[in-house]
Parts: sequence; structure tokens; C-alpha cells
Amino acid sequence: MNRFPLEPIETASVDELRALQLKRLRATLRHAYAHSPVYRAKFDAAGVHPDDCRTLADLAKFPFTTKKDLRDSYPFGMFAVPREQCARIHASSGTTGKPTVVGYTKNDIDTWATVMARSIRASGARPGDLVHVSYGYGLFTGGLGAHYGAEKLGLTVVPFGGGQTERQVQLIHDFKPDIIMVTPSYMLAIADEFERQGLDPAASSLRLGIFGAEPWTNDMRLAIERRMGMDAVDIYGLSEVMGPGVANECVETKDGPTIWEDHFYPEIIDPDSGEPVADGEPGELVFTSLTKEALPIIRYRTRDLTRLLPGTARTMRRMAKITGRSDDMMIVRGVNVFPTQIEELILRRPELSAHYLCILSLDGPMDALTVAVETRSGVLPDSAPALAAADALQHDIKAYIGTSARIELRATGGVERSLGKARRVLDQRPH
Ligand code: DLL
Repeated sequence: MNRFPLEPIETASVDELRALQLKRLRATLRHAYAHSPVYRAKFDAAGVHPDDCRTLADLAKFPFTTKKDLRDSYPFGMFAVPREQCARIHASSGTTGKPTVVGYTKNDIDTWATVMARSIRASGARPGDLVHVSYGYGLFTGGLGAHYGAEKLGLTVVPFGGGQTERQVQLIHDFKPDIIMVTPSYMLAIADEFERQGLDPAASSLRLGIFGAEPWTNDMRLAIERRMGMDAVDIYGLSEVMGPGVANECVETKDGPTIWEDHFYPEIIDPDSGEPVADGEPGELVFTSLTKEALPIIRYRTRDLTRLLPGTARTMRRMAKITGRSDDMMIVRGVNVFPTQIEELILRRPELSAHYLCILSLDGPMDALTVAVETRSGVLPDSAPALAAADALQHDIKAYIGTSARIELRATGGVERSLGKARRVLDQRPH
């Protein structure tokens, strides 16, 4: 079968990779210090200079960058090139306050397209494929990131964007794309719409889905693969570091996204102490860009929780599937709970669907967790099998997570559909 060749760096030795990383890291630190007053002030305050970085481990001497640093220098204050040299601006809308703004030179756009093309290739794209992009276009990095990568790889792109679910299905049915790029939660909404139109989603032309922008579990992967009759692979990224394509799963192993380490240097730290932890240990993912010009990012705290794993399909290291963001962690009567843990347990019950929402409220002075979940289509919420599944889920949550939860069964459509990133937690407690 016709396949795209790998880039040489994807099969380079670990020694070669580390040497390239160190060279690029030193150049990035020098560039940030020389051209971004914000970085210069941060390095000076921490008493470090780019020349102090002689090994990759020396990176730990440098201060972290946080979302707050970007907000405080809103909109372009952290850029290391004059705004005029930026070819593009993206921004991510926070839930509160000002958006986080990022910029790209022409070279940055090309680097991004390269890692996205690499990601789509690792996902299992073949020459001649047609790609349907349902990530949002605009300030969000999902749509344009996917678009430039697919074009760079030489595929045909349908730039649909998010929303208009009925028309998405019509065009997928008529254009017969091989690949879809979309959030996993919106894939489910599209699958529902297939069925509503009397079409079998598994019979569609789609062979491959490249899913990311939100946490999702391996159980969700299986559910999507079965329902859509496709391979489902995980793509990771964030706008502050680049956008989608910082890491991507290889379809032959499906064992967690391979981090494109020649452009993005990963560390895992203890989120409380800030100390780096060894590969394999869980903690917060931190990234340093190695080739970015407009907005070099030094030790950016992603708030995403995961582990670094050794390379399998590539030399480069992998990250385990993200458990969740520290922001999404619910503390229910002292027990830490992530929506992904609930998702895993829901998907073990064939009577329940993957449309769910965790609702936090107060029961007197105590936290209370309600899991609102839709039954599978054809299963009525008040039917005996549904009620038995709810009981079993409640029991599983207590047994495996250690917290009590109330289960609220809803009929199909009872949980709000996302057109992009799904909201999994609704906190109704007074602040
Ligand atoms: O979501 C970029 C992206 C677009 C990635 C399309 C993949 C596909 P932001 O809006 O800046 O950028 O949000 C970044 O989303 O810190 C994670 O918390 C979460 N996230 C992204 N990909 C994954 C994933 C885009 N595969 C934030 N698994 C990140 C889990 C993910 N969480």
C-alpha cells in the first residue's frame, strides 16, 4: 500500500535527538532573553542567564511561564519579534477575562504545518486521502492548524469547521472523506445525527478520526471505533505552545501521543513543589519550545496531568493519555475526581451513552456530585435495564473512585451537545 515516508528525525537515535534538543534549547533561551523583555526580567529575577544552560537538565534552573504571564503582557507583550513580523495571531478565550494571545512568524506557521503533517501521517493518512475538518476555524487553533497540516501533507481538505451538524453529515455522506478531524465529543454528536437521518455511521466512508482538544479515555476510543467503524487516534496540543500537533498518537500502536520532541521539549513536574519528576511518574506537563520565533515559550505549565513514557513506534517519548486538567479536578468531600474517571465507568455500561455532565452542588454544608448521563438511544431512562445500569454506575463510582454520586438518567438529547470542546463539569456551588 502507498504510504508517506517518515522524516529522518523521526527515526534518529536518542543521542542524535538529545544533541539537537540541547542546541535548539540554548538558541531558544538566548532568543527569548535577547528579544522579549518579559523573559529577560523573569530570568534576571531568578538569577539565571541563557549561558547557564549547558545540559538539558539545566533547563530546570529556569523559571516557569504561566497563563498569567501571557495575560499580564496582553496582547503582544511577550512576543520576541516585532508584531509586524508575525504572519498570524491566534487566541484562546478563557472562561473569564482577557483571552490568551499567541503569535506566529512565517517560519512558525511552516513549523506548525510540518508537525501537523507529521501528526496526520502518524495517524495513518495515505496519499490521496480526503480530510473533513470539523475543528473550529478562527481564533481557535484547531481548524487552521489541521488545515495547514493536511495541505502540507498533500491531502485534499474540506474546511467545514464546527457546527451545522445536519450539513456536516450531508457533506460527509456526499463527499466521502477518508479522515475526520474533530473533538471526540462532537464526533459523538455527528454520529447521533447520522442515525437521526437514518444513516448507519459505521457504513460511512470515514476510515480514521484524529481526535483531541479535550480529555477522552481509551473506553471512549473503543466506543467511537465500534460505532464509526474507524481507527480513532489522539492528537494533543495547546495554543500557548503552538496549537494542535505538539504530540500525536501513531496508529500502529495507539499507546499515547508521541511528543514531537525535536520542536517541543517536555518535562513532568510535581504540581505542588515545581520539582521535575522522573519519566514514568505522574505530574503536570511542562513544555519548552525549541524552534519558535514569535513567541518562544519557556517551561510553560500546561496544567495537564500525565506521565512521560518511552518511545515505541518512534524514538521520541510518548505522553500517557491526559487524565485531566488540574482546573477540571473536582474535590468531592475530600476525594479528587476527574471527569475522565467517571467517563471510563459510564462506558462500561452498554445501557448508557457517552453524553454526560458532572454537576457539583451543596447538600447542606457538604459537596454533592450528580452525574447526569444519557441512556443509549432505544433505552428509556425509566426502564428496568437503565435503572439497573444507574445503580451499577453509582456502585462503581463509590468502589473505584471512592466518592458517593447521585446518578440522573436523561433521555437522548438531555445533555447539552458541544460543537467543540465538551463541558464536563458544572459547578453550582456558591463561590
Ligand atoms: O485545544 C489545540 C488542539 C486543537 C488540540 C485540536 C488538539 C486538536 P487550546 O484551546 O489552547 O488548544 O486548549 C489546550 O486542551 O492544555 C488540554 O487541556 C486540552 N487538550 C488538547 N488536546 C488534548 C488531548 C487546543 N488530546 C488544552 N487530550 C490542553 C486531552 C487535550 N486534553
